[in-house]
Amino acid sequence: MDRVKTIPMIDLPRVHSTYKDKLETAASEVIGSGSYIGGKILDSFQDRLSVYLNTKVFGVGNGTDALLIALMALDIGPGDEVIVPAFTYAASAEVIALLGAKAVWCDVCSETYNLIPDSVELALSSKTKAIIAVHLFGQLADIEALEKIAEDIPIVEDTAQAFGAKFKCGKHKGKFAGSVGVFGTFSFFPTKPLGALGDGGGIACYDQFLYNKALSIARHGQKEKYVHDIVGINSRLDTIQAAILNVKLDYFERELIRKAEIKEMYYLALKNLKSISLPTECDFSTHVWHQFTIKVYENDRDKLRAYLENNGVSSMVYYPIILPEQRAYGSMIERTSLSNSRALSAQVLSLPIDPSMSNNDVQFICKSINEYFGK
Ligand SMILES: Cc1ncc(COP(=O)(O)O)c(C=O)c1O
Repeated sequence: MDRVKTIPMIDLPRVHSTYKDKLETAASEVIGSGSYIGGKILDSFQDRLSVYLNTKVFGVGNGTDALLIALMALDIGPGDEVIVPAFTYAASAEVIALLGAKAVWCDVCSETYNLIPDSVELALSSKTKAIIAVHLFGQLADIEALEKIAEDIPIVEDTAQAFGAKFKCGKHKGKFAGSVGVFGTFSFFPTKPLGALGDGGGIACYDQFLYNKALSIARHGQKEKYVHDIVGINSRLDTIQAAILNVKLDYFERELIRKAEIKEMYYLALKNLKSISLPTECDFSTHVWHQFTIKVYENDRDKLRAYLENNGVSSMVYYPIILPEQRAYGSMIERTSLSNSRALSAQVLSLPIDPSMSNNDVQFICKSINEYFGK
């Protein structure tokens, strides 16, 4: 008989249960304040985030808006090309299409799942106006290598999945994901490394002119109230979400420590399996373990997934179809081989990595995987 599903990818009510009273107090403070858009609570969260990341940050409605606003501030439009990985979430490329520009797909490394600098070099043209470097699954793309290849081209760091990751060495040693590119964009979607209780996002920018321009775009193109210099949109981080995030930031680092313990348990229990590959940690980045994504060989991925499901263990395929093969983006540009991205879409499987998981949960998942492979 099938088991009742017992281990979700992430159990947010359980994650929040340790500090639920603080979340409730923070929400109720906003309710009592009457300031639901903007105000002191939002300002203080933005200030805190700016200090934490050591760069200026403001809140927006979600991570997709953050990317859109960054590209709008860089004046990207029809006739322009923007380099983006073929293997990422749709939002990273959707914003390029929305502005009438062309996405130029690049391949990702089959070990780290992040952009291959050589592939970016082949994709460059005189029309290239930006590179969207996605820090996929929780560790950094090689920004320093991209900077060397494309010296004058602005890099937008899509940091939706890697809030809190840091450069361990090189030119950017000690700096946070999202703080070194011309723009860093963040998503505070609930399951993200720093997640709100609804949608939320942020934009980091060290260039004062571009920071002001992006902020104005997010406020209907206004610098002053009712004076619209440029065409903008409406994108704000709700005050209530800022209050929630302010509480969650206090627990962020300890959640990272717990996720690192869980990943160690996975490594220990699964390292001898020849039919899968465990995620590779690159030497220049810390990892915030947004996902623990393995590769499963010999067309076994979907069968393993079904077996786990039957044992009550959730897993997810991020991402089953690469972006160049999505009908929505059929008219974009493919200038380099995307063979790794294509292979990964058939091999990747993300396992639960939730700071509130028990050791028993992790052991049960590993036991199920070992059993599947007859170990
Ligand atoms: C890599 C990446 N970029 C951008 C986004 C968009 O973020 P949001 O859902 O907050 O719009 C996501 C969210 O899933 C993402 O994973």
